[in-house]
Amino acid sequence: MQMRAVIILMGVLGSTVTAAPSARIESIPGIIPQPVKLESKTGEAGFSLKEGIRVHYNVSRSEEGRAAIRALMAAGITEVLPEENEGELTVTIEPGHGKEWYAIRVTPEGIELRVTELGALHLAAQTLAQSITTDAEGNPALPTMNVEDEPMLPYRGLMLDPCRHPQSVEQTKKMLRIMARYKLNRLHWHLTDDQGWRIEIKKYPKLTEVGARRDETPLLTDHEKGDGKPTQPFYFTQDDIREVVAYAGSLGITVVPEIEIPGHASACIAAYPHLGNSDIEGYAPRVATTWGVLPFTMAPKEETFRFIEDVMAEVLPLFPQTEFIHIGGDEAPRDQWEKSPFAREYMKKHGLSNAGQIQHRFTHRVAEMLAPHGRRIIGWDEIMMDGEVPHTAVVMAWRSWVKPDAALTAANRGHDVILSPDSHFYFNFAQGKIPADPAYTPHGNPEAVQDWRHVYSYNPLPAHYTPEQRARIIGLQANCWSESIQNDAKLEYQVVPRICALAEIAWTPASDKRDAEEFLQRIRSHYPWFNAMQINFRHEDGTPNID
Ligand code: ACM
Repeated sequence: MQMRAVIILMGVLGSTVTAAPSARIESIPGIIPQPVKLESKTGEAGFSLKEGIRVHYNVSRSEEGRAAIRALMAAGITEVLPEENEGELTVTIEPGHGKEWYAIRVTPEGIELRVTELGALHLAAQTLAQSITTDAEGNPALPTMNVEDEPMLPYRGLMLDPCRHPQSVEQTKKMLRIMARYKLNRLHWHLTDDQGWRIEIKKYPKLTEVGARRDETPLLTDHEKGDGKPTQPFYFTQDDIREVVAYAGSLGITVVPEIEIPGHASACIAAYPHLGNSDIEGYAPRVATTWGVLPFTMAPKEETFRFIEDVMAEVLPLFPQTEFIHIGGDEAPRDQWEKSPFAREYMKKHGLSNAGQIQHRFTHRVAEMLAPHGRRIIGWDEIMMDGEVPHTAVVMAWRSWVKPDAALTAANRGHDVILSPDSHFYFNFAQGKIPADPAYTPHGNPEAVQDWRHVYSYNPLPAHYTPEQRARIIGLQANCWSESIQNDAKLEYQVVPRICALAEIAWTPASDKRDAEEFLQRIRSHYPWFNAMQINFRHEDGTPNID
């Protein structure tokens, strides 16, 4: 089937292509992330986009042609003209490369795309979208170019946190467009936390009736004080979720939901208090109005496990593409389990030597619950603290202060690892020392400055890793916790342009020549796109672009 398609499309190319050369092209935008192989030329004509990209009807009606047209349009290349008698676009399936491999050849006559899997057309489309320039007559054009490219790491993620401050469907889509531009392919959507439960679960309406609002929010300027203002209820309906997941899919991004278990569960337990350690003295769960680590953990009752199973029964169909479901697992204090007569009895019954092993049992139970559905768990690195967890579990290594190194511990135990160290990839942290970032309060340590240069200096696969350890590192992710990110403008400021640095270190193998000054030139060539997208990016001197 695939070979036949190739032959037909090559036939189209040979017989009906007409030239559409541009005027001279003097400059070429800098592509981010840097393609593995890129040859392009200035000082000569490229492919003109003035009249659009004509797509022969044989191509527009083929599966790969349709996928390419959709990918080009989704990447913002709106000059595509399907169903023409003449063709300037060819799409070839070329077996034998990696899933995300793609190749592009642009000549004054046309654009040839080659991929092994259709999904990689999104990546090719973004490279083309970034390459659009203006020719000497002021018309849009693509330079002649030859690209062969594929990523170093398959999981390239950004985590958004709509729990601490709301983020609308529209803003989430805008963030997805920014992610797609830089070839990130996973949105980790942190949907539940102490300060709010943000996903509609029909069987448990109180999760959102009670858990999606709170009495007040800590002040930005002083996290120890509340603002005294009850929040509006905020959550994503299941229709909203489907809309975001479908939109992400149209950009080649898979959404990985996170349901926090067993800690960061105050909002859940406030809605259904019996799910917590209800037999401890003074038990009074409520949706949290402070930040930080809170004591409410789920109780290891059969009804809690049934609840998790019910929630997953609604979550899984909403996220049909993802192999991974994130189950949290970070910062689950043991205090309530130590105090609870029920939890103590549970430990005795199951021969557990400390309360931490209750979390360990949660991790196993949920992994086993999801495995028959073909899903693997991702957990923050604390899931490893109290013993072995199923080898299929993916560890998201974030605690950069832990010795021995959490990522290496996970890799040595045979887990796939996503690197998300708070030393480099916490996009909620400040990018300049206060007062250089006056409008933007850091969350946490004011000294923890993580500007794009700091992100860019990170080497995900250092020389001292063994080949076995390297093979376990499946990706990188930046986290954008939203305690101090109270609105869309700040979210964008925190993410752009740091996301460019993240994308490049995940995509392009490090070489001796990772050159921050050269990278800065490429970032600058993206300012027109940031402006066209109305992104509140951070300028080099720390000023916000818009707000
Ligand atoms: C985390 O920052 N608590 C994963």
